[in-house]
Amino acid sequence: MEMFCLLWLLVSLVRLSPALPVSQEPEGNPADRSVTPAAVEMATGDLVPTHFPARRAAQVALHHLNTRHGSPFRVFGLQQVHKATAEDVGTGGRKYSLDFSVTDYGSSGSVLRCSADVLFPRTEKHSPPEVQLHCEGLQQISSSPEEEAFYQKHISPDSAVSAHDIPDSYGNISQDMKPFWHLARVAASFIMLRESSENTEYNMAQVANVSQQETSEKQLMLKYHVLLHDFVSQEIIHWKLLSSWSPDGGVRVLETEWQPKCPHATKPPSAN
Ligand SMILES: *[C@@H]1O[C@H](CO)[C@@H](O)[C@H](O)[C@H]1NC(C)=O
Ligand SMILES: *[C@@H]1O[C@H](CO)[C@@H](O)[C@H](O)[C@H]1NC(C)=O
Repeated sequence: MEMFCLLWLLVSLVRLSPALPVSQEPEGNPADRSVTPAAVEMATGDLVPTHFPARRAAQVALHHLNTRHGSPFRVFGLQQVHKATAEDVGTGGRKYSLDFSVTDYGSSGSVLRCSADVLFPRTEKHSPPEVQLHCEGLQQISSSPEEEAFYQKHISPDSAVSAHDIPDSYGNISQDMKPFWHLARVAASFIMLRESSENTEYNMAQVANVSQQETSEKQLMLKYHVLLHDFVSQEIIHWKLLSSWSPDGGVRVLETEWQPKCPHATKPPSAN
């Protein structure tokens, strides 16, 4: 069993590694990536905006933003953290106050300025971070003609989409698959938000596969197997999820299922 597990792990790592640093839509300044979190520092007061603790908290705010406003044509990535502070809040945990900007990688390319409070609760069992967020210009966002066209094209049940490896091992995403990739990133944000702590920094790595499900509802229904990368542990974490979307209904995540890396593992990382 142990041997199998090890082998399995090696095989998956070898198979995955070329596909990792791939997204054509960089998140944040690549230079920031060189700041490796040797240990998770718990800095207090003013933080260096480009360093890991500030970026990690901003990433959580970004997941929150994507769960609220993401779509197949709208997915936000971190552009820059401008200002960050952290403080202990009584017995309640640690609160990060952030000033940052985000880019819409979906289609508009627009840059929004945001501020957020991110609270990592200090509880025995994992509880998700609490986010309060305000972004300038979010109110003006409404569903776009391309969202409507995409919806009309795919809502008909005899055109079920299925695909795998988005992006592929060359880092490429076909034009047709981009909205499905963006939707996967938004749906994965629901998981990444829920699972985040001060000891993680999750990013979407790849869609292993996606298949469209039949439904009687007026929602596109997509089953994804996604690979998330935790920058802190450098682990790749597998989740299956079922997501629905329509221009009016927005993105919802109906089911999530953590996929153990080894057959005998039983609990997701956040349960540790
Ligand atoms: C990847 O996409 C680029 C253009 O975006 C293209 O030049 C290249 O040939 C593609 N590679 C593969 C293997 O599809
Ligand atoms: C989707 O990808 C995962 C991970 O590579 C694999 O285990 C699973 O069998 C795939 N599912 C389908 C339906 O292809």
